[in-house]
Amino acid sequence: MIETMPFARAMRRMLLGLSALALPAMASAAPSELPRIVNKDGHHALFVDGAPYLMLGAQVNNSSNWPSALPKVWPAIEQLRANTVEVPIAWEQIEPREGQFDFSFLDTLLSQARDHDVRLVLLWFGTWKNTAPSYAPDWVKLDNKRFPRMLNEKGEVHYALSPFARTTLDADRKAFVKLMEHLKAADPDNRVIMVQVENETGTYQCVRDHSPAAEKAFNAPVPAEVAKRMGVKGGTWRQAFGDHADEYFHAWAIASYVDAVAKAGKAVKPLPMYVNASVPDPLKPNLDPKTYASGGPTFQTIDMWKASAPDIDVLSPDIYNHDHAAYMKLLDFYGRADNPLFIPETGNSKDYARFFFPVMGRHGIGFSPFGMDFTGYFNFPLGASKLDPETVEAFAANYRLFRPMDRVWAKIAFEKKTWGVAEPTDPQAQHKQEMDLGRWKATATFGQGMFGFDPPKGNPEPSGGAVIAELGPNEYLVTGYHTRINFELAAPKPGEHMIIDRIEEGHFDAAGQWVFERLWNGDQTDYGLNFTSVPQVLKVRLATYR
Ligand code: DGJ
Repeated sequence: MIETMPFARAMRRMLLGLSALALPAMASAAPSELPRIVNKDGHHALFVDGAPYLMLGAQVNNSSNWPSALPKVWPAIEQLRANTVEVPIAWEQIEPREGQFDFSFLDTLLSQARDHDVRLVLLWFGTWKNTAPSYAPDWVKLDNKRFPRMLNEKGEVHYALSPFARTTLDADRKAFVKLMEHLKAADPDNRVIMVQVENETGTYQCVRDHSPAAEKAFNAPVPAEVAKRMGVKGGTWRQAFGDHADEYFHAWAIASYVDAVAKAGKAVKPLPMYVNASVPDPLKPNLDPKTYASGGPTFQTIDMWKASAPDIDVLSPDIYNHDHAAYMKLLDFYGRADNPLFIPETGNSKDYARFFFPVMGRHGIGFSPFGMDFTGYFNFPLGASKLDPETVEAFAANYRLFRPMDRVWAKIAFEKKTWGVAEPTDPQAQHKQEMDLGRWKATATFGQGMFGFDPPKGNPEPSGGAVIAELGPNEYLVTGYHTRINFELAAPKPGEHMIIDRIEEGHFDAAGQWVFERLWNGDQTDYGLNFTSVPQVLKVRLATYR
């Protein structure tokens, strides 16, 4: 209502000649440079307001996308010190009746995000949500004639919508375009910095669509551009891809559909757009695609998605695998010269918090635990069984350490070499992780007294993690929690010895300048650099003597 609105906002609307209903969330901020993903020499950065930005994220629960839920979202975000909140925008919510759009939740969200000074990532729950059409409006998901489901290999109706139905694509794309049009008008200061297009696409229990349209395409030649990008000669899908043909075909079909939606949205407002993957166990190769989300952007089909969805900037894994080795493997799969590493969802139990460090060390553009609100739902055993203060604190500690230097770190990660480790659980790792810095080797150990040579026995719970960034020759930024870091020469020449030249503890000020606090020496350096639960950032300069 105009009379309850702040005077300045009401005046602006009157001056613009816009009705309060037409543009309810018109921002008070000035237009800013559009967020974009920048790639340079195999490194990536998300630029926000013209500079690299690190997403210290939190994703809310699925049904927290209503104004009534937001009061239970913000206290969690504040406790976490997240700078970015990922929130669903559901097709059923914005287009409950065909052609009639309602963006009232988005307007509320934008306004409250401004009040809380956080950025947003919108999650478009459209044709696919965890592979199913649950978030499609009833006029879509209940009309199997107009919006057909896939057929399995026996010709039976599958639960997922067919990526070959033009009617479905047209309807989804139209709604997404309306969303982006609204965003363009209502978000000039770019509170929203990225958009996730669909959610965990693919299909369980059925490797690909067998509808007549799908069969026809499967037996036709692989599109020339896709064949070229995949480095195959061509021919039918079976001829080109053999045993992988069904899965690759399905990935191509879904990726092309998602790309068409993203492309149309970007034509309105070209925000960075990404997809998230439900990923199978990366340590079990050759799983039957029927057992995972076949056709989604899983690690098996990254190349096919890259070949088929050029408008998608980032393919990202949702990681709910507690196993350290599996987690690292997934980071290695998705952090590529042609793909920024971004973890849009990960479990919110305490053990996941330490994985923040290897994500940072691999130039990750963001990290976001899932289910971070106080609405009372917990996705245990994927994540925590409750979001008690100790659990929130495990993630908040990371953001407490990085938030004061988020812009500095994002720039460093874009321009410099970085390394990061998390405490392993595999007994063979012996509570140790090594980082090859070139001239130097850094060893992270976990669960030691601070003074002395006792062997690492692991922390009481896996909680250790550390990152190192190369600032210049022999100079490093080092930080972490519950970890001891030791430096040594990787390959000392005869008679050559390492010496610590100088270790400064300090912090970065608001302008990104380093502020010296004190030197570390003596006990604080004789047995490695011991990081505890205290947020501490060090600048380390190494040297040699003969
Ligand atoms: C992954 C999905 O993307 C989320 O929306 C959610 O359903 C989690 N799985 C499980 O809580």
